[in-house]
Amino acid sequence: YRNEALAAIAAATDEQQLEEVRIQFLGKKKGRLKDLQSLVGKATPEERPVVGQKFNEAKENVSSALDTRKSELSSPKAALNAIDVTLPGEPCKLGHTHPLTQTIEEFKEIMGRLGFAVMEGPEIEDERHNFEALNIPLEHPARDPLDNFYLSVAEAATGGPILLRSQTSTVQIRVMEKTKPPIRIVSLGRVYRPDTIDPTHHCMFHQMEGLMIGEDVNMAHLKTTLRMFAKAYLGEGTEVRFRTSFFPFTEPSVEVDMLWDGNWMEIGGAGMVDPNVLTSVGYDPEEVSGFAFGLGIERFCMKRHNVTDIRRFTENDLRFLQQF
Ligand code: PHE
Repeated sequence: YRNEALAAIAAATDEQQLEEVRIQFLGKKKGRLKDLQSLVGKATPEERPVVGQKFNEAKENVSSALDTRKSELSSPKAALNAIDVTLPGEPCKLGHTHPLTQTIEEFKEIMGRLGFAVMEGPEIEDERHNFEALNIPLEHPARDPLDNFYLSVAEAATGGPILLRSQTSTVQIRVMEKTKPPIRIVSLGRVYRPDTIDPTHHCMFHQMEGLMIGEDVNMAHLKTTLRMFAKAYLGEGTEVRFRTSFFPFTEPSVEVDMLWDGNWMEIGGAGMVDPNVLTSVGYDPEEVSGFAFGLGIERFCMKRHNVTDIRRFTENDLRFLQQF
């Protein structure tokens, strides 16, 4: 009787089943305990204490097993008790910042040490900030709709065309519109161009814009700043050279190259802010001058980490990302 009862109790998987087991074995009217009880009644006076004790033990065992099983089934601890808490846990996979974000953070830190504050501008721009105030007139090829991501909607306030910014130079204008000189800022962010995508070109990439405006800011300041920046990011031995170039918003303009493993690599454009730009934001070119630069952030990151394809940055391949 006892073993059968204990097995049935252990096999019960919910409280309802357990109650049926209880009725079957301990039930007052038809329970099997009744049969045992009548055996006790038939025992001889000598046997009776022994048989009675056995009867009581069996009854005790069965009802305490019922109680234990009942509390196991009714409390959620039943499930918890099944967990071996001494087993080693599964380590959580922790993510980390994207390699480009890491580069951006480091750029901000270096430029911060040189006294440049970080500014931000919108990625959707109007033509004034992306072109006009930067001395890029309507007929300039840089404004060709095929070379820019114009949006199919107009700006709500003015009805004018808007586009994804093609350069962070837009932030130069936004900052100068709002601030009086002296200015020393950088702005890091995304720019968009409908370029054919290949290992070194993407339709979206990042630039760091720099702008310094003051009473006697000159070309030597620009060259020193860029040299110090490049050395801070890529090491003391880093060599930088400047090539004459042209941008509508700087005069004179230079293209900046960096020597890496014996090759000159272009890292951006720069120059002295064109007087037309200073005038367009209400500055007096007789009173202030300044320099500006725009550097490709992916370029630096790719060279530092020997990444050979710019597309890796946006593919979300964990095998790539986990290396940083
Ligand atoms: N905006 C230029 C570009 O996108 C770079 C530049 C920035 C050049 C500032 C001069 C001054 O190529």
